Amino acid sequence: MNYPCSTIFPLITLAFLVSLSLPWPATSASSPSSVHNFLHCLANKSAPLLESVYTPTNPSFNLVLQSLIRNRRFLTPQTPKPAAIVAPTIVSHVQATVVCARDNGVQIRIRSGGHDYEGLSYRSNVTFVILDMFNLRSIKVDVGKEVAYVQAGATLGELYYTIANASNVHAFPSGVCTGLGTGGHFSGGGYGTLMRKYGLSVDNILDAQVVDVNGNILNRATMGEDLFWAIRGGGGASFAVIVAWKIKLVRVPEKVTVFSLPFSLEQGATDVAFKWQQVAPKLHEDLFIRLQPMVVNGTIIVNAIGFFLGDSERLVPLLDQSFPELNLKKADCKEIRWIDSILSSANFPPGTPPEALLNRTRGARDFSKNKSDYVKSVISKRGIETIWKLLIELANTTSATVIMQWNPYGGKMGEIPASSTPFPHRSGYLFLVQYIVSWAEGDINVTNCNIERVRYMHDQIAPFVSKDPREAFLNYRDNDIGSTASDKTNFKDAQVYGSKYFMDNFARLTRVKAKVDPHNFFKNEQSIPPQFK
Ligand SMILES: Cc1cc2nc3c(=O)[nH]c(=O)nc-3n(C[C@H](O)[C@H](O)[C@H](O)COP(=O)(O)OP(=O)(O)OC[C@H]3O[C@@H](n4cnc5c(N)ncnc54)[C@H](O)[C@@H]3O)c2cc1C
Ligand SMILES: *[C@@H]1O[C@H](CO)[C@@H](O)[C@H](O)[C@H]1NC(C)=O
Ligand SMILES: *[C@@H]1O[C@H](CO)[C@@H](O)[C@H](O)[C@H]1NC(C)=O
Ligand SMILES: *[C@@H]1O[C@H](CO)[C@@H](O)[C@H](O)[C@H]1NC(C)=O
Ligand SMILES: *[C@@H]1O[C@H](CO)[C@@H](O)[C@H](O)[C@H]1NC(C)=O
Ligand SMILES: *[C@@H]1O[C@H](CO)[C@@H](O)[C@H](O)[C@H]1NC(C)=O
Ligand SMILES: *[C@@H]1O[C@H](CO)[C@@H](O)[C@H](O)[C@H]1NC(C)=O
Ligand SMILES: *[C@@H]1O[C@H](CO)[C@@H](O)[C@H](O)[C@H]1NC(C)=O
Ligand SMILES: *[C@@H]1O[C@H](CO)[C@@H](O)[C@H](O)[C@H]1NC(C)=O
Repeated sequence: MNYPCSTIFPLITLAFLVSLSLPWPATSASSPSSVHNFLHCLANKSAPLLESVYTPTNPSFNLVLQSLIRNRRFLTPQTPKPAAIVAPTIVSHVQATVVCARDNGVQIRIRSGGHDYEGLSYRSNVTFVILDMFNLRSIKVDVGKEVAYVQAGATLGELYYTIANASNVHAFPSGVCTGLGTGGHFSGGGYGTLMRKYGLSVDNILDAQVVDVNGNILNRATMGEDLFWAIRGGGGASFAVIVAWKIKLVRVPEKVTVFSLPFSLEQGATDVAFKWQQVAPKLHEDLFIRLQPMVVNGTIIVNAIGFFLGDSERLVPLLDQSFPELNLKKADCKEIRWIDSILSSANFPPGTPPEALLNRTRGARDFSKNKSDYVKSVISKRGIETIWKLLIELANTTSATVIMQWNPYGGKMGEIPASSTPFPHRSGYLFLVQYIVSWAEGDINVTNCNIERVRYMHDQIAPFVSKDPREAFLNYRDNDIGSTASDKTNFKDAQVYGSKYFMDNFARLTRVKAKVDPHNFFKNEQSIPPQFK
């Protein structure tokens, strides 16, 4: 069955034209003259800061803006642009930016790696300024104490490289994509292949340096445990500017083992997926097997992508016993350094040296729309077949690349209480699902139609995933769920996305917000509103 995109299409087009023909919603808070006053205030606070301010007339403005935009959907002429970009080189610049913006009623958006799925770190329909953290990216590793200090603008690749350059038996549990910024990635949770052994990034953060709404520099002791709790999974952007983190390094063996096994439907992909749900979340915590179903030539290929903290001698018998359907052989296994597993997971070509992780030149590739889901009970084989059909249908009607990722929980994830950080999806979860749909055609009509079809697929999958609420992962931000208007924070809308991202932790987040930022200076289209109670 084809989803009738053409029948809903005129509505979207109409809404789009109407919004284009009107000026962007005006706000009493921000106007060009308040931006002017903001820039004046900055100049008066600290003269050298002006060298790090880019206004639209600056020849580097577009380059700086675009260098951290990953999604071509947000690289169009219609994408609203900031009134200025401030890129601090020292912490006092961050303080000045916050105080001058607050005093002049200018909204800021904070950007570290720029990977936000909805571009909320660099796009808004209100007048705004980007506080861009890319110059603040120093990293210090102390192997003796097994800790590291990393500034918000550093990428995961830079962090991983620096750890591996200092020790071949240490690592840090965070994301697979090496371009992510630690400012946004850690404060939104942060998971990767070490999750079942060591939990999320937020479970391994010891301290943080932030700038609050009054321009004060705070650390864990001076910010207090409530704010320190909130920024570890509640999203930094609602509470303060994260300047740096102190993190606890974790131990890894000198060699880890990786494998990747593809299964077609004829080779039993459905049986593998059915069994995987029952096994992967219960396997030894040294083992992380991500399942990646994707549509290839109108059919499904399921990849089982493994990462093991040990050698193949130990791994092969372990899987023979618990997951014989995989039929893993020693020859399928590669024993490599942890840092090389990072390159391999991030799809660098085999043999790429770790120095490639220091290359910040990336650029936007595709147009895409992603979504997430959580699964708490095993999906039947029939259910899996229904999902395959929906994926194939989506690929067929959009000509998009359609990939699903199933990320197993259990292990350490199941041992951490749901309230210990704002990230609530802990014990009792089988896996996190991500839908990745990307296409190369930039036409706005194609984009709108493809997004409608992704939503349709997501609606159809509802019976198989978490309900009441249907949960979602903050780092996989999705404006389809209870998005608020840009210039205000509507509590009812916020409760919709708040309960999906944070479950019972949402209430505490709103109380912390009321305490640390009662006038709601730190906000965006999906931020935490203050609740005074
Ligand atoms: C290709 C790709 C791969 C990914 N892989 C993974 C993965 O393996 N695991 C995972 O968990 N997630 C993954 N993600 C999601 C990623 O964790 C989130 O998009 C994350 O928010 C990115 O952080 P950032 O700093 O790069 O993004 P930004 O766009 O800079 O920021 C994201 C959010 O955090 C806020 N923010 C940024 N910096 C600060 C700061 N210094 N202080 C306060 N607030 C701040 C922003 O305002 C915005 O709201 C992936 C995303 C992409 C695009
Ligand atoms: C600049 O700062 C000085 C001293 O802090 C103050 O007296 C003056 O009014 C400021 N000027 C502007 C334009 O803000
Ligand atoms: C969706 O995820 C893929 C893979 O992680 C990524 O390349 C793409 O940029 C993401 N889409 C958006 C909208 O960020
Ligand atoms: C701005 O408005 C347009 C048109 O209504 C909408 O598509 C877009 O998502 C909005 N942007 C943000 C960041 O809210
Ligand atoms: C790697 O370590 C060596 C020696 O410990 C040091 O000289 C070098 O600067 C480090 N490289 C980077 C990029 O940090
Ligand atoms: C998909 O089909 C094309 C053309 O028929 C073929 O060249 C290609 O190898 C196929 N891809 C896969 C992964 O089977
Ligand atoms: C793809 O769509 C076309 C028509 O829209 C249909 O004829 C074809 O059978 C579909 N293919 C699959 C694999 O669903
Ligand atoms: C950095 O990456 C870009 C994009 O992949 C590539 O074009 C460039 O050659 C790389 N630079 C270095 C020094 O490797
Ligand atoms: C998008 O569709 C509308 C309505 O069908 C049409 O008027 C418009 O020209 C299309 N836009 C593009 C860029 O094709």
